[in-house]
Amino acid sequence: MNKILSIQGMQWGDEGKGKITDFYSQKADIIVRSNGGNNAGHSVVRNGTRYSLQLLPSGIFNPKAINIIADGTVISLSGLLEEMERLEKQNITNYNLYISTRASIVMPYHQQLDKAKEVVLGKAKIGTTGKGIGPCYSDKAARLGLRIGNLVDKDYLKKRLEEILPIKNIELKAFGIEEYEVDKTLTYLLDLTEKLLKKAKIIDTSNYLYEAIKQGKKILFEGAQGAMLSIDFGTYPYVTSSCALASAIPVNSGIPAESIKSDSIVGILKAYTTRVGEGPFPSEILDERCNLIREKGHEYGTVTGRPRRIGWLDLAQVNFVVKISGVKHFALMLTDVLSVVDEIKICTGYELDGKIIDYFPANLSDLYKVKPVFINMKSWKEDISKIKKFEDLPKECQEYIFKVEELTGGKVTLVSVGPDETETIVREDLF
Ligand code: GDP
Ligand code: IMO
Ligand code: MG
Repeated sequence: MNKILSIQGMQWGDEGKGKITDFYSQKADIIVRSNGGNNAGHSVVRNGTRYSLQLLPSGIFNPKAINIIADGTVISLSGLLEEMERLEKQNITNYNLYISTRASIVMPYHQQLDKAKEVVLGKAKIGTTGKGIGPCYSDKAARLGLRIGNLVDKDYLKKRLEEILPIKNIELKAFGIEEYEVDKTLTYLLDLTEKLLKKAKIIDTSNYLYEAIKQGKKILFEGAQGAMLSIDFGTYPYVTSSCALASAIPVNSGIPAESIKSDSIVGILKAYTTRVGEGPFPSEILDERCNLIREKGHEYGTVTGRPRRIGWLDLAQVNFVVKISGVKHFALMLTDVLSVVDEIKICTGYELDGKIIDYFPANLSDLYKVKPVFINMKSWKEDISKIKKFEDLPKECQEYIFKVEELTGGKVTLVSVGPDETETIVREDLF
């Protein structure tokens, strides 16, 4: 049994990471979010109530656990406070939250710049969530960022603003955005810090995790976004600005690389594919079946409400992710949704310029040209959401799962048949 388990999205996000993190978090001592910001939208359904999380780890429903927002994340202070207030209205207040001193702060100007850049890009826009993620990570890399730890040292924070704002103001001015003043910005940040410190601790979370690993604590890492949205290996430039692979967890949370083993990663795999925002999508469904799946799966963005684009399960894409991440175990999600179509397609490979290729194209121009090669599978028409045992699933559904295993070489250890935590079939316990 693994002491450390990582949740990794296998596609373009929204695979159901929130549900599975919540599911495993009941057994965890610590739950960690280590990349992205409030661009993520993770839904958790417990006892029929739906909760939407963006930056808070989906482990907050376990009052005994410690939840960590780690070093590699980008945090909008106002966004995080709003998220906490939203959950407060749903009576979720009893959780422990530690935030890394090294995490980056998403400033209001990052959000303004995110939106302004999309407007200038026009037709070439990325379709971002508008949460300031790209501009914040850009500033981090340019060494013009503010970090959470700066908030608790007023003098240094002021000095840092004096260094950073003159440069940011040049950029803001170019986009016609009002400039930022040091004193006003300082007051704004200190005010939010005071509110945040009532609900969370700011600590060296890497150090905390070091001790926790030494003590053999059970730690669950919740990925955000999906592998195909990763900055280096995704469909660049139609990606987010962090790495969504489990292999980035050590760097993003300050733990040794050996802590994340292939056997301890659960690849969260939607039984079909969705994508929000622009960019190539080889197995996209463009006929009325996309509406059937979208409605049955409620495929609308948690953060932006945008309708998600729908496609068939694309194993050419998934196997690329398997190759770069070493994932061996899958949680097959939203399996119940496929009962709305009569026949299911699985993309098993791509044809490029008349030839079958055995690699995932790195260049967008090729990816836009590939033709998916499909196999057809029979659907099952019954409602499977109340089924508790794999053997009780309809034969066609079992065959679909066996096919996924055969074509990926991995094992489907968990089958999700509905959004609620109870609607989960466990074939092998990993944690
Ligand atoms: P995440 O970003 O990976 O956490 O995924 P989201 O929460 O954004 O999107 C997944 C959606 O599918 C949410 O609305 C979940 O409540 C829902 N969901 C998760 N698993 C299942 C499932 O097995 N069946 C159905 N019908 N819905 C599911
Ligand atoms: P979860 O964790 C789906 C997408 C955006 C856009 C691109 C860049 O819920 O799976 P950004 O705002 O990050 O600069 O946008 O990435 N995107 C997501 N799509 N799920 C997510 O997170 C996403 N986070 C970012 O739609 O195409
Ligand atoms: Mg989501």
